[in-house]
Amino acid sequence: MPTRSIAAAASLLAAALTATAALAQAPAAAPPPLFAVCQSCHESTAGAGPSVGPNLFGVGGRKAGSSEGFDYSDAMKGSTIVWSADTLTAFITDPNKTIPGNKMDYSGGDPATAKQIADYLMTLKP
Ligand code: HEC
Repeated sequence: MPTRSIAAAASLLAAALTATAALAQAPAAAPPPLFAVCQSCHESTAGAGPSVGPNLFGVGGRKAGSSEGFDYSDAMKGSTIVWSADTLTAFITDPNKTIPGNKMDYSGGDPATAKQIADYLMTLKP
């Protein structure tokens, strides 16, 4: 590798490290990038109403299908799941396996990303 590209690589690495440090200092409540997909159907701030899906603010600790003012499927209303980091991770990884017959039009994702989103959702509370 020519010296110049080593220098360029080193400064890129330095920039990446700086960015990582900045991320580490960011408030814990910064959403993971993939949360943007969820936001196309879900509000996630206090007092916001339902949109395509129920408001996800305060979802941690809530029984599935119990946000006021949202017209859930029978599958979601009938579920006995209480949302925790674990149940949210399972649901986001594979919604149809976790609550068969629910009407959320999202096919799921990899478990590591799902866990990041689940951990973020657990921070959304008053
Ligand atoms: C295409 C629209 C859409 C997308 C995209 C979507 N959702 Fe949903 N979501 C819904 C709908 C609709 C429901 C209600 C399902 C039902 O009643 O069966 C729901 C339900 C939920 C619930 C249950 C909430 C409760 O009150 O019990 C959670 C948690 C949830 N979604 C999280 C997510 C997350 C996290 C993502 C992103 C990874 C996501 N959703 C992406 C539409 C969507």
